[in-house]
Amino acid sequence: MCGIVGYVGYDKAAPLLLKGLEKLEYRGYDSAGIAVCNENAIQVTKSKGRLKILSDLTKEGQTLPGNIGIGHTRWATHGVPSVINAHPHLSELKKFAVVHNGIIENYIPIKEKLLKAGKKFVSDTDTEVIAQLAEFYYDGNFFETIKKVLSTLEGSYALAILCDDYPDEIIVAKKNNPLIIGVGVNENFVSSDITAVVSRTKNIIRLNDGELAVIKANDIKIYDSNYNEIKRDPFVVDWDICTSEKCGYDHFMLKEIMEQPLAVKNTIGPRIQNGKIVLDDINFTKEELNNINKISIVGCGSAYHVGCVAKYIFESLLRNPTEVEISSEFRYKNPLIDKNTLVIAISQSGETADTLAAVKEAKKLGAKVLSIVNVVGSSIAAESDSVLYTWAGPEISVATTKAYSTQLTIIYLLAIYMAEKLSKITASEYEFYISEIQNLPVQIEKVLSHKDVVKDLAQKFYNAKNVFFIGRNIDYAVALEGALKAKEISYIHSEAYAAGELKHGPISLIEDGSLVVTLATKEDLFEKMISNIREVKARGAVVILITNERPEDINEVSDFNIFIPKVCEIMRPSLAVVPLQIFSYYIALLKDCDIDKPRNLAKSVTVE
Ligand code: F6R
Repeated sequence: MCGIVGYVGYDKAAPLLLKGLEKLEYRGYDSAGIAVCNENAIQVTKSKGRLKILSDLTKEGQTLPGNIGIGHTRWATHGVPSVINAHPHLSELKKFAVVHNGIIENYIPIKEKLLKAGKKFVSDTDTEVIAQLAEFYYDGNFFETIKKVLSTLEGSYALAILCDDYPDEIIVAKKNNPLIIGVGVNENFVSSDITAVVSRTKNIIRLNDGELAVIKANDIKIYDSNYNEIKRDPFVVDWDICTSEKCGYDHFMLKEIMEQPLAVKNTIGPRIQNGKIVLDDINFTKEELNNINKISIVGCGSAYHVGCVAKYIFESLLRNPTEVEISSEFRYKNPLIDKNTLVIAISQSGETADTLAAVKEAKKLGAKVLSIVNVVGSSIAAESDSVLYTWAGPEISVATTKAYSTQLTIIYLLAIYMAEKLSKITASEYEFYISEIQNLPVQIEKVLSHKDVVKDLAQKFYNAKNVFFIGRNIDYAVALEGALKAKEISYIHSEAYAAGELKHGPISLIEDGSLVVTLATKEDLFEKMISNIREVKARGAVVILITNERPEDINEVSDFNIFIPKVCEIMRPSLAVVPLQIFSYYIALLKDCDIDKPRNLAKSVTVE
């Protein structure tokens, strides 16, 4: 999705803007641009395609003088990807330049009004109306003009705006789209994402919805939604540069796959004290827990798949009815929830528009909302009644890996915590689960240490046109994630099926040479899975089996086996998913795909 950067200080702005935009590339984009203001004139350079083109056009920013500027990476929503539609957008007389994330819902009536008044538009975007409207309203006062503009706009926005009469300030505003200010010494930054500024400053101020800020090199003024000035101290992010750099890896995806043991360890770390799970952040009383008559989980993509795993775990440990719903479906289905429903929203970014809307809908219907989020202070976290943060660190690769794993970890912690509080498990079971979860990072490490076995399989199968992923129960939930990884990273058509469903239709797709990846980590269903493997093999399939380490012969029914350590049943998804991530990564590498930025995808989907 689109990314914003802005700089005001004493250094040359353009090279810094380009560096910031590079850090936002991971979000996915199709065009980019920068605007700088120098001696009361705004100069804009834009390009379609990769940032490298913009960098070459401006000789890495050196051809653009000026110490103040804004930049943008665009992911097309209104109008095709093109230089004209790329941001920043200028007003007709070049007085204002605007970069915008979000969607202006009433841009058509505004545009019609401005066209009637004689304004000439050049792009197909909703954003251009903001620049044109500012020029239309302008009375010499930048701040007052932007206030008037904001009162006219409907929809969502993170905005950074330049005015040529004010060559030392940027005005920013936020509504339902993330925006932060990076506070430096004799310089300040703005961005949609902390990663773009963290190499220059770790002091961050987050803007809330409805707020506006006027940013100069040595001064930041923040205003609430009634335009009263407010004070807000920056918080310090504790990332080192390496968390947002590849640090020796060819791709962020591989780096993040390898970081999973640490990310899971960090997520568990402070939450187990003296052999007990401590979830201070939620603090449910036994009575409140007892009153929960249904759990309803929402999320999109991989986060939804975590919810699918969670359903099996909550239902088996708590015996509590649990639904899991794709956020975009939940929000429009008039969900059957009430004050006794616990709604769990899962999101890495904390900004996914559909999940945010699902949270708002759940709250409107009186449910308690607990979110599982990676980005501190994000919109979903802010909207929820309580938040359990995953401590995965910044995830840059578009395809999630370590965030998925840490989300699973939170699900285990929450389920065990609730089961103990509700006396659904014995003290010795509780102890057992705690020791298993503490051991999880080491077990994930073991799976990673065999990554070359999976790499060899990727070498054998990278030309596959279709892959089927099958499993039963919790393994089926993991199969869903395996199929998504194969699609999004390696561009292989892939489907996940509950293994028992094959005979009801999908088995007609199996023919000589079809690749079927089977997951069989549950002892009670192992023989059933062996029968399913025999069925597809009888129709010519080649089968890769992922199962627990077992000394006895596994009948050699499959063609290739990947063994994972045997941990307690509910935590096996954390190990089974790792070979699936590695498999897709190496296939994508062999097919020369753009691994960290797969086509058509964005890291944080802030539009519906
Ligand atoms: C897949 C992937 C996406 C996200 C989905 C939700 O690898 O990353 O399917 O899981 O877009 O994003 P968040 O978790 O930010 O709400």
